[in-house]
Amino acid sequence: MSATEKSVTTETTRPAEAARGGADSFDVERVRRDFPVLRQTVNGKPLVYLDNAASSQVPQVVIDRGGKYLREEHSNIHRGVHYLSQRATSAYEGAREKVRRFINARDAKECIFVRGCTEGINLVMHGYGRKFVSEGDEIIVSAMEHHANIVPWQMLCEEKGARLRVIPMNDAGELLLDEYDALLNERTKLVAVMHVSNALGTVNPVKEIVARAHRHGVPVLVDGAQAAPHLKIDVQDLGADFYIISGHKMFAPTGSGVVYGRAELLEKMNPFLGGGDMIRTVTFEKTTYAGLPNKFEAGTPAIASQIGLGAAIDYLNSIDRDAALAHERELLTYATELLSTISGVRIVGTAREKASVVSFVIESVHPHDVGTILDQEGIAIRAGHHCAQPVMQRFKVPATARASFAFYNTKDEVDALAVAVEKCIEVFS
Ligand SMILES: Cc1ncc(COP(=O)(O)O)c(C=O)c1O
Repeated sequence: MSATEKSVTTETTRPAEAARGGADSFDVERVRRDFPVLRQTVNGKPLVYLDNAASSQVPQVVIDRGGKYLREEHSNIHRGVHYLSQRATSAYEGAREKVRRFINARDAKECIFVRGCTEGINLVMHGYGRKFVSEGDEIIVSAMEHHANIVPWQMLCEEKGARLRVIPMNDAGELLLDEYDALLNERTKLVAVMHVSNALGTVNPVKEIVARAHRHGVPVLVDGAQAAPHLKIDVQDLGADFYIISGHKMFAPTGSGVVYGRAELLEKMNPFLGGGDMIRTVTFEKTTYAGLPNKFEAGTPAIASQIGLGAAIDYLNSIDRDAALAHERELLTYATELLSTISGVRIVGTAREKASVVSFVIESVHPHDVGTILDQEGIAIRAGHHCAQPVMQRFKVPATARASFAFYNTKDEVDALAVAVEKCIEVFS
């Protein structure tokens, strides 16, 4: 490790001291200072950033790590024997090892770098689905999936003459596992479910979902986009065959993400993209492919972004994650209680197990108007279908307003949200 790399590591460990301890002692003000974007005002009000499910913010140490790569290491990876290329390669591969530890994969070669969760799911659809799914086969998804975990499978079904089956949910937004059991059969080729719902906040019992699929010999893809920022992920404990994460939702830059796949499956799959870096030999007659993970990383990857993902993982390891997650749970409970007391507000998604998302509708105010009025107050939430139109159809709403939390949010910000929601109701009454 170079001297400069050491100084970055030292910086990443600094916030830990302040944030250690139980939920009550979580020093949120200290942690907030690590996120420069939070220091601004919007429309004359302090920014209240509650759109973390769309993209979370990036701490200074991650920004610095990206800057360091661009200032001191910028170069292409793998192919070069020169100094800069070796440094870039070592930082990029170092990030892969950090990801491995973060999700507890057996081997770093099971962690394929992709540009985000959508690309990751498409990689599995092309590499696994197009090779192993045939006419008459079935793929199971859930009723609460993000479009990223629906559309690729629909495209595959259309191409192959296969059938998409859907695990239904109850009015709280919980999957009906008995119905899931009834869908599993000898035609099922894959189950693809989200770990945490971006539209409802539901935490799905993915370990159980995986176990039930495995009893039928069916592999399971878990969309972990909303779980990785809020839960501790252990892919071996979950038993997931594929687990996909997105860097920009876990304090890293856009363009970073990971497909974890069990080596045995990745070995059998077709490559996703063809080109440089993913080959062993090329002749006009035949190409042979590189081993894992390179087989799935054609062309120049998003080097700076993936190094940034490694730095974001360092950052998460440097704070007391248990205390941070307990703080997030407190925010969720507090926001749910506060919004529930406001007459005319209905929360959509009331599962027993939830993480960091409150979706709500206000009688007689369109969610887009809610979003606009809140923006005038400096509060960033998301309004719309959250790329989950089937969820909106299930709950018979055109859209919802969604506040989503990270560990750097505060109870004062939840108070500001509630006051602004009351203001919306006043304006439109
Ligand atoms: C549950 C879920 N899956 C997939 C995605 C798509 O992720 P990305 O934007 O990284 O492609 C999102 C993004 O909102 C999401 O919330």
